Amino acid sequence: MGGKTTHPTLLEDFPQPPRRRLTRVITCPRCAVENPEQSRFCNACGASVAPESEPAREVRKTVTVLFCDVVGSTQLGERFDPEILRDLMARFYAAIREPVERHGGTVEKVIGDALVAVFGIPAVHEDDALRAVRAALEMRDAVAAMGEIQARIGVNTGDVLATGATQGESLVVGDAVNIAARLEQAAAPGTVLVGEATWALVAHAAHGRRVEPLAAKGKSEPLVAWLLESVDPLAPGHRRRLDLPMVGRATELGLVRLTADRTAQLRRPHLVTMLGQPGIGKSRLVSELQHAEQATTLAGHCRATASASPLEPLVEAARAAIPDGCFTEPAVAALMPGDPEAASVTACLADADNAGTVDLSWAASRLVGAMANAGLVVILFEDVHWADDALLDAIEQLADRRRRRSLLVICTARPEFVDRRTGWGAGANTLSFALERLDDAETRHLLLRASPGLPAAHADRVVAAAEGNPLFAEHLAALIAEHDPSVGLPRSIQVLLSARLEALPEPEREVVSVAAVAGREFPVAAVEALTGRDVKAELGRLAQHELVVRTGRGGRREFSHTLLQEAAYGLIPKQRRAELHTQMASWLDEQHGSDAAVGDHLDRAYRLRAELGLADEATAVIREQAGTRLATAGRRADAMGEPVRASLLLERALDLLPDRSPVQAAAMVELAAAGWNLLPRSERSRLLDDGADRAAQLGLRALELRARVLLLGASDGPYDDRRALDETNAALRELETLGDQRALAAALCTRAEYERSLGHAADGLASTRRALDALRSSGDDAVWALAIMGDMLTASPVPVPEAEDVLTELMDEFGLRPTFRFELLRGQAALAQLGGDDDRAWRLLDTARGLDRDLGRRTGLYLSGTETSMLLRARRYEQLRGTLLPYLAGVERLGRPDAPVARAALVELEVRLGNLDAARAAAAGLEGADGYEPLTRSRMALAELHLFEGDPERALACARDAASVAAGGDWLLLNADARLTLGRVLTGAGDPAAGEQARSAAELYAAKGYAAGVAEAESLLR
Ligand SMILES: Nc1ncnc2c1ncn2[C@@H]1O[C@H](COP(=O)(O)OP(=O)(O)OP(=O)(O)O)[C@@H](O)[C@H]1O
Ligand SMILES: [Mg+2]
Repeated sequence: MGGKTTHPTLLEDFPQPPRRRLTRVITCPRCAVENPEQSRFCNACGASVAPESEPAREVRKTVTVLFCDVVGSTQLGERFDPEILRDLMARFYAAIREPVERHGGTVEKVIGDALVAVFGIPAVHEDDALRAVRAALEMRDAVAAMGEIQARIGVNTGDVLATGATQGESLVVGDAVNIAARLEQAAAPGTVLVGEATWALVAHAAHGRRVEPLAAKGKSEPLVAWLLESVDPLAPGHRRRLDLPMVGRATELGLVRLTADRTAQLRRPHLVTMLGQPGIGKSRLVSELQHAEQATTLAGHCRATASASPLEPLVEAARAAIPDGCFTEPAVAALMPGDPEAASVTACLADADNAGTVDLSWAASRLVGAMANAGLVVILFEDVHWADDALLDAIEQLADRRRRRSLLVICTARPEFVDRRTGWGAGANTLSFALERLDDAETRHLLLRASPGLPAAHADRVVAAAEGNPLFAEHLAALIAEHDPSVGLPRSIQVLLSARLEALPEPEREVVSVAAVAGREFPVAAVEALTGRDVKAELGRLAQHELVVRTGRGGRREFSHTLLQEAAYGLIPKQRRAELHTQMASWLDEQHGSDAAVGDHLDRAYRLRAELGLADEATAVIREQAGTRLATAGRRADAMGEPVRASLLLERALDLLPDRSPVQAAAMVELAAAGWNLLPRSERSRLLDDGADRAAQLGLRALELRARVLLLGASDGPYDDRRALDETNAALRELETLGDQRALAAALCTRAEYERSLGHAADGLASTRRALDALRSSGDDAVWALAIMGDMLTASPVPVPEAEDVLTELMDEFGLRPTFRFELLRGQAALAQLGGDDDRAWRLLDTARGLDRDLGRRTGLYLSGTETSMLLRARRYEQLRGTLLPYLAGVERLGRPDAPVARAALVELEVRLGNLDAARAAAAGLEGADGYEPLTRSRMALAELHLFEGDPERALACARDAASVAAGGDWLLLNADARLTLGRVLTGAGDPAAGEQARSAAELYAAKGYAAGVAEAESLLR
């Protein structure tokens, strides 16, 4: 990405092909000294350098030249007997000649001990450069294997003048040759140095590193060189079209680069969205940005086919940041130095398939955010029109402009994306634009580069037909080159691509069809399994036609363009398509593919068969299996804390599953549970009612009970905790004998909440612990149980230090997942305050708040509940107001049964601040409060209010009420609070019974381990 220093003007950014001056020199075949163009004899050694008598045909062409010389030949002469040396050298030449010939190169000559080979003479191949580097590596290894001698090798590409082909030997002259010789001389023994021009042609396939520029004799500028290490054995012969020079798009590139500059300057995230028709050049533009110099660039691709996790592209991008792509703690920590979350980030990313989306998104964002603190990071998401909503949410969060980080997020999408996500990119830090068609001049330019041999007349036709779509132009040109150029040109890109694919020989076509069913990116093993044979050769040929390319991931290939996959898919007859999808599903199943992916293939197979009118037994079986797999995937997604994805999968499953089948009944209940906060209450009740009935008819008692327990909380109307608890208990008694851990855990959590709200916190705690055990054994998401654990511990008679130990242990067990940690942190903060460690308490609360924000959730209600009670205990009334008012509004809007607790807090706040009118206003409605805690707290608040109003009698009545309601349950703190209030009211009335209440409050506080409470109660005694 362009910082101003390296990119003075935008246009300079476009790589120009190196234009080497064609030096007409004649290199002496004997001593390699260069002689002026007209020389007949070498100036140095006198050998003949003149062209042979016949007038030589001269051709100018681009070739790759390879020099290979033996190291230290003089010393070799001293070390070896001449006869042995002769044998050795003969073996040396054989060893280095063989790879040259095998890769289609020509051994030009031997100069001294150096062998000069040329790739591109007599015939030019499209992949000469790659052939040369492959040969060079094989030569290097062959010589090394000989043991006794070492070689050094230099390779370079450039324009040369080749002459004298008639004699069977040609003379190559040109700067390129000299550079190759210099590279060879500069190479360390046993290594290969590659020149810049060659590297540019093989970089897609070769591995190596850039070396210090070489100061070369007789050259004004130092030579750039690369130390070649290895070459991908299966890399396509030449570069993808992506690497052809970019045409046009200067303005668009400029826009993005300026946005990058702005991102870096302001240290604020920015979001750029590029929209455009298929083939218009979105990916090409993005790839241009990928070679950014002053930024770390990460990329993730969205795919049309189902993946295991909707956040896969984000994980892919994060993985790109790690040198070997393996999320280990040292590797992650190295990217986020000093960040205490490195372990947690590693845990989430390394187990991406099992971490929920919220945790994954948090982890990736944290990692990328840390990197973007150190410098500009560009993260590219291609084809977000296929992205899951969860990913789009995560992207928007990454680009949240309130964060301080130099992060530029770039997305590409087809135009219809804007209809799907209307508010996308509407912020003050966003830029969206459409890529328009190239103009005719640009299209022609592109064609000339892509197909240099295309006759002008054809080029005109292609330019006219392509309508400025570069992909269309490229493939049209290829079609003309491959076939009779007089054929009519296809009128649409789909037809065009289909025509190219249809023209493939049968074995390649078969491979393409199978691959198309597997996806844009496909595992080679799947294609081999489905075709029942080795397909390397076909894939090689497809790669040569640039239809299929390698991907970064081993064992996989991808269609070079999505439209190719779509076209290939479209060519398969529906019946065959259905078969292939079924086979693909079985293959994936054998490979332990995700239920979502298997179900997706089966679903497609079923739909195709239905379209074909195949209403047979097999179709029904496929349909049911599809539904079952999608239902399993949905259930799992919910267990992982992904309700949205779970609901979508379950809805699809319900569409497929046969009526009155057990899976259907289960899917209904799962959908109600997953969609608890997404579906309207009536819909939830309908699903549960229906699910329970069907489960009953099918004799699925555990399912039925689970549905009924959930239904207790889903129904409208007044909450009757006692009745609900009785029913839950009845259900639980049965569930315990049935062994369904998931149903058991859900019922136990429900019971715990009823128990707690009826005042039995110790029972609630026991139920929560049992729920946690059930969740552990079923492998389900424990977040529900963890979320209520802190409240249970705080309310229960368990002393603070012991309660803290429980949370510490749970933190060790679950803390690496941030969503779990958040819940535990809330409890820890509350307990730390009770234990008297205020600093720690507020720190923990801050950590929880920061985590919640980073998790991108908008559900601050739990946290404000914890914060409200902490501020109240700390008597920080001014600060309390800011938290309490929105909290109160929130719980009252939701009609939560504990809303009066918050209202009581407001009354206390106003009384303590001396605002009588406000206190009275706040107390309105408190009289009708019901339930253990709400009733106790409202009576306490009213007692305070009446005392303040100067009505000690009513105050006393309320305080007595509060104390007796509290005594009906085992909440220690609530009991102590109520007695303290009563004690205070009695003291005001001069009643000696006050001391007893205060003492009893002090004892209860002491039993809980709440020292500040003890002190306060004792102060009343004095
Ligand atoms: N400005 C350009 N200069 C040179 N080549 C280009 C340019 N734009 C596109 N191309 C080439 O055209 C082909 C199609 O472009 P690309 O793959 O970027 O399209 P796309 O917009 O990403 O399509 P899709 O929406 O289907 O992914 C590629 O081979 C690409 O290299
Ligand atoms: Mg693209």
